Amino acid sequence: MAIAEINQDSSSEPQAEVMSIASPINLILLSLFVVLIYWNLRPKQPVILPRGPAPIVFRIYTPKTLREFNGEDGKPVFLAVRGRVFDVSPGRNFYGPGGPYENFAGRDASRGLAHQSFDEDMLTKDLSGPLDDLKDLDDDQLENLQSWEEKFLEKYLVVGKLVAEGDPEASKS
Ligand code: HEM
Repeated sequence: MAIAEINQDSSSEPQAEVMSIASPINLILLSLFVVLIYWNLRPKQPVILPRGPAPIVFRIYTPKTLREFNGEDGKPVFLAVRGRVFDVSPGRNFYGPGGPYENFAGRDASRGLAHQSFDEDMLTKDLSGPLDDLKDLDDDQLENLQSWEEKFLEKYLVVGKLVAEGDPEASKS
């Protein structure tokens, strides 16, 4: 009698195991797993990145060719300081159309920065003539100019060199 009972118990064990694997919680977990796998492997739309701004190439500018870059019609804003052309577009609020320093846009701003003045008469008048040699600046003005230059070097990209109209390098502009 006792042997028959043992046999009966042991024959019912595998059935109990099958039941526990196919329990509702396991089925839910399995379906979650399948959904997760599908979610990760599903065909995805290729990511299309927005077109960035055109790359800026280091160029030679003359006072005339620099004029174009005054921020009008969405163009970049450039200005020159002692022969270096800076892209000051990130400071469009300062130098762009309607900004407080818009006179500097597309121009050699060296004299104005040295004199702490954005007046019209600080700008080179003859765009075909030689560059402003700044030889008449006193020590304070040179110091002003240098500290502006340092600020610009920290903040903006140098995108070119300003040369006079007749300069041999001007042909590269
Ligand atoms: C009424 C007098 C002026 C006031 C109240 C004034 C005010 C300011 C202010 C608030 C800034 C922003 C500073 C910052 O956040 O970095 C600034 C920047 C500047 N100011 Fe003036 N300013 C005055 C006169 C001038 C003058 C006469 C010049 C002429 C050279 C000048 C040239 C500049 C330049 C070049 C910048 C740097 C803009 C940049 O970060 O690109 N400011 N000014």
